[in-house]
Amino acid sequence: MAKRNIVKLGDDVLRKVCRTQLTFDERLHQTLDDMAETMYEAEGVGLAAPQVGILRRYCVIDVGDGLIELVNPVIDETKGEQEGDEGCLSLPGRYECVKRPMYVKVHAQDRNGNNIIVEGEGLKARALCHEIDHLDGVLFIDKSEKI
Ligand code: CO
Repeated sequence: MAKRNIVKLGDDVLRKVCRTQLTFDERLHQTLDDMAETMYEAEGVGLAAPQVGILRRYCVIDVGDGLIELVNPVIDETKGEQEGDEGCLSLPGRYECVKRPMYVKVHAQDRNGNNIIVEGEGLKARALCHEIDHLDGVLFIDKSEKI
């Protein structure tokens, strides 16, 4: 595995809509491994492909209950609401209050192309929304209460 550079705010790559990932090959597996290593080293709870300069729809998340890899994730269902401070590895040191659903249900594919369902509450729901937003070029500051 190898650590990747995390793209910071101001780079256009963070504002692009990412394309569907169609191949589930060794190259994807290597990139997902690298993204997990990069996320853990940076002590983040999520990292999306555009944050390592790749305009494809996948991300990694770990809010403390194990690594989740999501390829082509789509939010199917949301419930409730939560407000809390949110940050991003692409905006180091910046935290702002963002309203998110309390619960989300997501369908996606795993690294081998199998269909998976992931549910999350609280921080996990927040991380799922945040990372999936990245795949559409949306950053948490766009949704911040302080705008
Ligand atoms: Co982020």
